[in-house]
Amino acid sequence: DMGEYQHYMIKEIYEQPSVVRRIVQNYFNHDKINISADILKDIKASDRIYILAAGTSMHAGYVGKYLFEELTHIPAEVHIASEFAYHTPLLTAKPFFLMISQSGETADLRACLLKTQKLNYKTLTITNVKTSTLARESNYFLELFAGPEIAVASTKAYVAQVAVLSILCNTLSDQNIDLIKELTKVALSIENFLATQDISSLVHDKITKRNCFYIGRTIDYYTSLEAALKLKEISYIQTEGFAAGELKHGTIALIEEGTPVIALISSKEISKNTRSNLNEVISRGATTMIISLANTSQESDDIILKDVHPLLTPMVMVVPTQLIAYYAALERGNDIDKPRNLAKSVTVE
Ligand code: M6R
Repeated sequence: DMGEYQHYMIKEIYEQPSVVRRIVQNYFNHDKINISADILKDIKASDRIYILAAGTSMHAGYVGKYLFEELTHIPAEVHIASEFAYHTPLLTAKPFFLMISQSGETADLRACLLKTQKLNYKTLTITNVKTSTLARESNYFLELFAGPEIAVASTKAYVAQVAVLSILCNTLSDQNIDLIKELTKVALSIENFLATQDISSLVHDKITKRNCFYIGRTIDYYTSLEAALKLKEISYIQTEGFAAGELKHGTIALIEEGTPVIALISSKEISKNTRSNLNEVISRGATTMIISLANTSQESDDIILKDVHPLLTPMVMVVPTQLIAYYAALERGNDIDKPRNLAKSVTVE
């Protein structure tokens, strides 16, 4: 049921603060964390995490890699499921496999699972559907609690995936971030943005071409990949997410008068350099947009979000990019919840 909303996608975007709160309620039980000791033991015993996923879930996986390495100091690498299934990389002595899938039905991941089982390694699946094939067949699973996601374009599942990954990594870490507090701040920041900023005219004015670029550095680069997928899959605008510093190594040749370039800037460390990359495209005629967090914002930035913990920024930075995709698709009259050529879960390899 879409309720007051015109599409499932926009409904699911607006559900995100409550999804984050539901995850907090389900994973934190007084002072105890609802993750089995066996999962924690197996991960601690491993020397490398192999994260396998597709599409948006893979983009959450990149953030997961970042969280694993920052918080647990266990190296992590991300693999495209459909590649891993047919060309297994050289594995370390004690690998641990983590699959991320909203549906739990993605055939490419099932192929990976058959492979890891054959090699006798244990697998954890993070999924939204606890009755799904991957949840049933993996050794362990963790639930996303995002509620049914109907729109083909994944939104709330991504935010839920990053939230659950942050809880998992923090539980394995000695940093002990107060995640009840920090995830609640995330919910509030998303809520505040959704309640106070209407970006439809911004999208109308700036997203006017057949192509578009998102740029970002470090963790914002991962968000830019997800932002680009969202925009292309429902608006059909050819969009790429780029590491901000890499654009000038070739792709800047594509910048013409009016080409939209959207920068994601969530931290002080990268702000100066990403802004100077923006100046490089402005001088080639690009139309730019800046999405930043308050701690590193400038008054002229187009969208400014309330600060959250530095490791949780993707959960809030992604939200304006979901709305950019939504409004761009709406303006083009596209079928937002069922974009052409796409299925909600891809059950063929
Ligand atoms: O159900 P899954 O998370 O395994 O699905 C993976 C991708 O097919 C999915 O994220 C796809 O990329 C979405 N349409 C993105 O919005």
